Amino acid sequence: MESLSAPAHRRVPLQGLLLAVSLLTFGSLPSTAQLTVASTNAAEGKDVLLLVLNLPESLFSYNWFRGKSANSSRRIGTFLTETQKFTRGPAHSGRERIYPNGSLLFQKVTLNDTEYYTIVVTKKDGLTEEATGQLRVYRE
Ligand SMILES: *[C@@H]1O[C@H](CO)[C@@H](O)[C@H](O)[C@H]1NC(C)=O
Ligand SMILES: *[C@@H]1O[C@H](CO)[C@@H](O)[C@H](O)[C@H]1NC(C)=O
Ligand SMILES: *[C@@H]1O[C@H](CO)[C@@H](O)[C@H](O)[C@H]1NC(C)=O
Repeated sequence: MESLSAPAHRRVPLQGLLLAVSLLTFGSLPSTAQLTVASTNAAEGKDVLLLVLNLPESLFSYNWFRGKSANSSRRIGTFLTETQKFTRGPAHSGRERIYPNGSLLFQKVTLNDTEYYTIVVTKKDGLTEEATGQLRVYRE
């Protein structure tokens, strides 16, 4: 008796499970959100972090640039995730540092630091993602 009725009892829960799985899959789409630099305002002389959100996985390096594009002559620096090594670029002012999570630290920001900043994230597969944010420094 039981072996006959069991399949009929299972059919509905299985369909419910499949529906739940497809809803979960659909619901997980926002986790592929775009790389973002959080724009920020800061008072002159303060230490400021430009935060990077929605980092991809399998990272190889970060490059930060002054301005809205990845212009190599305006590169602030490069951070290699494997070695955790930071190297300065031509636009480094002596006050910037890149953290392992990609965020860019400015020590003692000046009014001159008011600018757009662009990060290029290179993944281990060689593909890159880019995002731009703005830092606005005001006089207190
Ligand atoms: C890159 O930056 C340099 C220095 O600011 C500038 O002279 C040059 O025009 C820029 N190149 C591009 C493609 O924007
Ligand atoms: C990145 O690391 C810095 C320093 O540890 C931390 O202050 C900051 O909140 C981190 N950023 C994010 C987006 O988690
Ligand atoms: C701002 O930039 C200009 C030109 O690059 C420079 O002459 C000046 O000293 C800078 N001012 C500060 C406060 O860093």
